[in-house]
Amino acid sequence: MNAKKPPTPTPETCARTILEMSGAAFEPEIAVGLWSKILDHKWLLSEKVGRDMGLRTACIDFLENMEQAPDEYRTYKRKDVLKEMGAQSVSRETWDTIADSQPPKRLVQRRIILPLTETNLAQKHGVVSPKAILFFGPPGTGKTHFAKAIAGVLAWWFIEIEPSMLMAEGVEKVGANLRGIMRQARNLNDAVLFIDEFEEIAGSRDKADRIDKSITNEFLKQIPLLKSQENNLLLVCATNYIRQLDTAMLRPGRFDCIIPVGGLDTKGRTTILKYYLSKLNTGQIDLARLIEMTSGFTPADIQYFIDQVAHFAFEQELKEKEDYLVTTDTFIQMREKVNPSLGNDEIEAFEKDCDNYSRV
Ligand SMILES: Nc1ncnc2c1ncn2[C@@H]1O[C@H](COP(=O)(O)OP(=O)(O)OP(=O)(O)O)[C@@H](O)[C@H]1O
Ligand SMILES: [Mg+2]
Repeated sequence: MNAKKPPTPTPETCARTILEMSGAAFEPEIAVGLWSKILDHKWLLSEKVGRDMGLRTACIDFLENMEQAPDEYRTYKRKDVLKEMGAQSVSRETWDTIADSQPPKRLVQRRIILPLTETNLAQKHGVVSPKAILFFGPPGTGKTHFAKAIAGVLAWWFIEIEPSMLMAEGVEKVGANLRGIMRQARNLNDAVLFIDEFEEIAGSRDKADRIDKSITNEFLKQIPLLKSQENNLLLVCATNYIRQLDTAMLRPGRFDCIIPVGGLDTKGRTTILKYYLSKLNTGQIDLARLIEMTSGFTPADIQYFIDQVAHFAFEQELKEKEDYLVTTDTFIQMREKVNPSLGNDEIEAFEKDCDNYSRV
């Protein structure tokens, strides 16, 4: 239902109309404040019954329930915003698929999760809860997965702000849309807001054209607004190209932490392999061999490798009409289909970025 409000009438008109509708007399300055609340209440009633409720009914009902009506409106509106923004709930399992040794899990636990869950202790020691963090690292290393996992472990909503939401009305409107979305988001509670490919909206202003510049500027205004909020909101941005970001974005005071997400060590690969192996129809598997053959693999590479094996097994069984068990040999056979994403050049470039940009 359209919740757009018409312009507020003058204070005198508000007072007169409320008096006519309900018989209750208010000073014009008070009546004008009540006016928008009555319109909110009209929206809420209409949503509940599924048809447009008259202003008179809404006005009378609001004045009778003045104590609880605004709260009820806020709760209802929040649900509406969650739906509109495509909020997802994420299971805790996502966090458990990340090995403790996989960087940056421990760091995220220490700097993000604990201050948000141990709030009294954090307050006692003057630890400020994080409001905005940035992940950077090569493609497929698990940046999005980390953002989801944080939402899962906190039991908060996960809301991805897609570039298409910002671009919906053309490039010229991106700044205004960003402002609108962030305004809506600030009404939420217990939510992780995620923006992927952050360089697209916050690229360097030196190289950007007029429109890009205005988006970066808008974003720079939004971060302090978000930080001034009391409610549980965490903005997580991710980029593969941290060097392309506007330097103003990276200054202290904007993001609370700038966290690198890099390649996997042996334990990291083990946890991910075990997780995906549990979904296959397996026979004898030499895990140590799989770990060795996936050296240099990102989580995305491992997932792709497993997909290849799964499809192969499926097709084999279709063809042979007998139970096909995936074994170490199946992996050896399929290994050549996957090239590890992280070669020496990528690792070297990432290490340089870690030195230059990490702030944890
Ligand atoms: N610890 C993990 N356990 C299981 N799967 C994982 C893990 N980390 C990442 N993945 C999977 O690997 C794939 C790549 O991860 P993700 O999309 O998070 O990477 P990314 O760094 O965001 O990549 P991009 O830079 O392309 O956006 C995803 O399908 C994700 O579900
Ligand atoms: Mg991603």
